[in-house]
Amino acid sequence: MTDTRCWFHCHAATMKGGHYSVIEDAAILARGERIAWIGPRDVLPPGDCQAVDLGGAWVTPGLIDCHTHLVFAGERSAEFELRLEGASYAEIAAHGGGILSTLRATRAASEEQLLDGALRRARQLLRDGVTCLEVKSGYGLDLPGERKQLRVARRLAERLPLTVRTTCLAAHAVPPEYAGRADAYIEHVCTELLPALVDEGLVDAVDAYCEHLAFSPEQVERLFRAAEALGLPVKLHAEQLSALGGTRVAARHRALSADHLEYAGEADVVALAKAGTVAVLLPAAFYLLDESRQPPVEALRRHAVPMALASDLNPGTAPVLSLRLMLAMACTSFGLTAEEALAGVTLHAARALGLADDHGSLEPGKYADFVAWDIHRPAELAYWLGGELSRRIVFHGKEVSH
Ligand code: NIG
Ligand code: FE
Repeated sequence: MTDTRCWFHCHAATMKGGHYSVIEDAAILARGERIAWIGPRDVLPPGDCQAVDLGGAWVTPGLIDCHTHLVFAGERSAEFELRLEGASYAEIAAHGGGILSTLRATRAASEEQLLDGALRRARQLLRDGVTCLEVKSGYGLDLPGERKQLRVARRLAERLPLTVRTTCLAAHAVPPEYAGRADAYIEHVCTELLPALVDEGLVDAVDAYCEHLAFSPEQVERLFRAAEALGLPVKLHAEQLSALGGTRVAARHRALSADHLEYAGEADVVALAKAGTVAVLLPAAFYLLDESRQPPVEALRRHAVPMALASDLNPGTAPVLSLRLMLAMACTSFGLTAEEALAGVTLHAARALGLADDHGSLEPGKYADFVAWDIHRPAELAYWLGGELSRRIVFHGKEVSH
């Protein structure tokens, strides 16, 4: 039997170049795990294949969630209630809540317990057609804790039809053992924790939280030099709650992405453009923290900085179980077009993970990861709020069901 499959009777929003780049009445040919050919059906090259009629569906690349913290234990709805009563995220963190409360729960959980919770959340995202996911550590903040989180992230890819990229976010907060000694903690991460996790093959990239309630630009600089010495790409939570200068540190180190960016200004955007760094926008955290300052979308467009969109799935600022909902929120809250939003969870998200050679658009040579949606126009993906759209999902050339 041939390992060539052909999907036809569909329209394709290929997202080539970060635009819809539509092929009407398209056919997609996959050989094994990769796309061999895509184009108008009437010029489909002849040959043997297993043919699948998609019934007039719209096909998009599989969605990519390029910023999640989905491996954690516990939940923080009590903090949500405190914020509704007027407490700020920073005040809650200063009183031992926030990241440190998830740290306590995550350290106490077994690897199997963490895996159970992570699988449950990942399956929710998969229902929206997600085929690739980034997962950060950052709730262990010591070697056993960070290792446990990253191992769970790796195991997700063994259990689900999903590409997983792991990011070490040991510089997420100062753990209790190092209270008041942030520099010493960063030194420990650079010289012991990170090298050990890299040796174990658990780390694809390094991230940090650059904020007054976490780490300074100088401390991030130190971490990024260590990451580079280990041959790892970097990314950064930057300019989320204040303008601290993290974005420019990220650009100086040619980071894959700078994420959040509500307080970034024009000079920061210019630096991102020069460095080829992707801006990752996170509308759920913006919404949940009731932030009034918007990321500089107009400047990002003017300087042609690619904009990705992600869930930021985490128990504090973004308990998100739908990536598709982020498209709607980015359009309404940040003024993205529906096309920019879809590019943000496909091609630009792939770039934010350093995966654009193999993922993010429907082009020959890339993985045959795609979703056939039962919709009339691609903009419907940013239009419906929640729920489950009827669709078929193909991962690495094979139809999957969830
Ligand atoms: O991306 N900013 C830091 N990290 C998360 C929040 C994590 C938490 O509160 O647990 C974020 O918003
Ligand atoms: Fe985050």
